[in-house]
Amino acid sequence: MQWNTRAKTTVSIPAKLFWKTNFKFNLYVKQRFAREYILHFTGLKPADLADETLNNYMAMYHNRMVTKGDDRLPNPAGWITQRMLDQTSEGEIKARSKELLNDQIVSNPMVGGSPRAMVTKLVYDALRSHARDVRTVCNIGALVDTQCAYLAPRFPNIEFTSVDRFTDLARMNSFLPQSPNWKFRTGYALELLETGSLAADLFFMTSTSVCFSPRELDAYTEQIARSCRFVIFNEPWWPSLTSLNFFKIPRPEEIQPGHALIGLAYFNFQSNYIYALEKHGFDVLISRIVPTAGGPLWYTLQIVAERVSDKPAATLKSPRRPIG
Ligand SMILES: C[S@@+](CC[C@H](N)C(=O)[O-])C[C@H]1O[C@@H](n2cnc3c(N)ncnc32)[C@H](O)[C@@H]1O
Repeated sequence: MQWNTRAKTTVSIPAKLFWKTNFKFNLYVKQRFAREYILHFTGLKPADLADETLNNYMAMYHNRMVTKGDDRLPNPAGWITQRMLDQTSEGEIKARSKELLNDQIVSNPMVGGSPRAMVTKLVYDALRSHARDVRTVCNIGALVDTQCAYLAPRFPNIEFTSVDRFTDLARMNSFLPQSPNWKFRTGYALELLETGSLAADLFFMTSTSVCFSPRELDAYTEQIARSCRFVIFNEPWWPSLTSLNFFKIPRPEEIQPGHALIGLAYFNFQSNYIYALEKHGFDVLISRIVPTAGGPLWYTLQIVAERVSDKPAATLKSPRRPIG
């Protein structure tokens, strides 16, 4: 499909990081993936495809190939679960809660920050610029939501909601400072949006939307467009696992709409966000690929978009050849 975008993603990756990531790390992952692929498919050393851990490349790849055409999670009810089941998992959550955000970190996340600090700065800046337009903010895939814990007391007139699949989401977040304007919702966010029980003026996600298949991303974008004015993504972004072009950092607008690249490190779905956003009436204000705070071998895609129209953007005809 050809399409025409108004947005162009900028890539600001310093040469040293580019070399380490796009050459050294890229080569390491690709040769390992190729070896495991051959061993699996020749039957010499078949991988356990049910064991979906980061270290099991074949199982991760298999999962992505099986789910890439899905338009939603197949069994949302089975996906909803309790997170803190024992002392170990409670300890993990408590450890995550220690990553408290403060003004210094949020104002300059690249110094001592994290992806959570990066997204918090984007949301903070948007709220400062559009204080009168935004009354409600929602973090989808919130997990331990240090971002809302930081933002809620600073914007007491805005309602913040953290959404995730955990039945004990509120308890998971109880180790963070609480605010009366910060609440929790358990569920599959896409379903909550479709039923109209979740709405916000500003939605944000970090390290979450790369879990969505391309059609699920499209469905989410369609649903959040029904209520919101702004959407902010702060997502891990990598060279493609299967591309042999070591010079290439893919821009989202170059990816074939409806398809996804598989990102190198976590085998994430990397989709054409720009297409999905413009299709559902958003104008992309910022789209950039930058280093990740606290991640020595890592890029982040940051997108800020504003909904400008109820109608889909006039699509089509692009001079560029899409990849993916
Ligand atoms: C890698 S974690 C990131 C958590 C948090 N945003 C952070 O950066 O620490 C991804 C989160 O997205 C949620 N998630 C995964 N797939 C999802 C989906 N299809 N719809 C909504 N949330 C999803 C998971 O439950 C998980 O909490």
